[in-house]
Amino acid sequence: MIVKRQAIKLIFGAGALMLVGQLLMLRLLRPPVPFRLEPVSQFVNVTAAIPLPIILLDRAVLTQLSDMCPFCNLQHPVAFASLYKHIHEVQSLQSVLDASGFKSTILLNTLPVEPAAPKVVRDVPTGFLIAKDGVVIHLVLLHERADSYWWFGAVQSDFGIKQKLLDFGLPGHAPTLDIMIDEGAVDRFKGVLVEVQGLNLMVPSSINLYLEQRSSDHFIECSHSRAAAFFDEFGDDDSSEALKFKHKAWKLLTTAKQVLDQLNIPFWLSSGTCLGYYRQCDLITYSKDVDLGIMASDYSTNLIPEFQKRGFKLKHVFGRINDSFEISFVYDDLKLDLFFFYREGNSIWNGGTQAKSGLKFKYVFPSFTLCWTEFLQLKVRVPCETLSYILANYGSGWSTPQRAWDWKSSPPNVRPNGEWEKKDWPEVIQVYY
Ligand SMILES: *[C@@H]1O[C@H](CO)[C@@H](O)[C@H](O)[C@H]1NC(C)=O
Ligand SMILES: *[C@@H]1O[C@H](CO)[C@@H](O)[C@H](O)[C@H]1NC(C)=O
Repeated sequence: MIVKRQAIKLIFGAGALMLVGQLLMLRLLRPPVPFRLEPVSQFVNVTAAIPLPIILLDRAVLTQLSDMCPFCNLQHPVAFASLYKHIHEVQSLQSVLDASGFKSTILLNTLPVEPAAPKVVRDVPTGFLIAKDGVVIHLVLLHERADSYWWFGAVQSDFGIKQKLLDFGLPGHAPTLDIMIDEGAVDRFKGVLVEVQGLNLMVPSSINLYLEQRSSDHFIECSHSRAAAFFDEFGDDDSSEALKFKHKAWKLLTTAKQVLDQLNIPFWLSSGTCLGYYRQCDLITYSKDVDLGIMASDYSTNLIPEFQKRGFKLKHVFGRINDSFEISFVYDDLKLDLFFFYREGNSIWNGGTQAKSGLKFKYVFPSFTLCWTEFLQLKVRVPCETLSYILANYGSGWSTPQRAWDWKSSPPNVRPNGEWEKKDWPEVIQVYY
């Protein structure tokens, strides 16, 4: 009997396997179900009647906009966006959608990694899932933030996201969405009306610029709770010199950002400026300068002239574009250090040069990627792996103010790196001011 039962099991097993195989074959052979445009058309009409301006943000559709049928092969919910400020009441939008036969659910920022102060708070709506006749529309709510950019939340910050996705027939784990997988930020952009497959749709006026922004849109919030803990322990310096420094440094950073953005050179907060951001969401008032990192490969020969046009005085240029390059400017008595970085295997390093001795130094960081953040009301980049960057540069004592700091010996990641040959000094050690 036992033998027979095993045989039956075997037969059943083989049968089941064949069935799975056949189903897989069927799936492969069957053409994908064409995307149904009718519900999207209705959604566009319903929002137009409210009126609620919406813009198509779906990258899969936008990249195929000039083709015959941009919606035809869409495999995920189609992403639209609206400005949060245009939604007076999320519930009233829901009842309008409901009256037109749409099912909808609100996505919330219930579990933000870090609640931002003061604008984007806990439980703020970040979007909607909207469905009709098997078509799911993902409406993203863009939140206006300082410095003219839009922030959007992550679906994973919604406490009930798993069930919401399942309710809309989407996989509850890795959601197949085009946007809001992570928090993100994009600069404001204008829209333009186009006709797509018979629909009148608003799309970003420069699709290429929009797509480029989306390719690195990951946003992290400065930890205001960490900053509050720091100020609780060490107090805040609100002397008039400190306030003066902050104002000047803010002006310097704002102008430097304008220059670098205009040159299309990505930069990030580095050294003491990055430490201030991470520890205090603010400038470290005793640091007396602003430090920015730039990949050496992004350097442009227009950089120095453009800074000079904006009133920055060249202080020094050390190293070469391909080795230990750094540029310092002075702006309204404050120093701006631009450190150029080099990728080498699994690490990224920048160099230092001691002008009087020609000694070279190397600061080595674990490889990192760049994220947007908001710092002093500006949308700027920081290493996404901010803590490992800070630990490399400042060690485990980073959370305590250190006024005595020697750039040649204090950083845990500093290494001697030989010296410049005397004959090269005029080229690699240029001191102007
Ligand atoms: C939406 O409005 C347009 C223009 O008014 C109309 O042609 C179209 O049929 C409407 N779509 C639906 C699905 O009702
Ligand atoms: C950098 O460029 C100089 C010429 O400007 C060259 O002599 C040197 O070998 C280069 N160094 C590296 C590390 O590639």
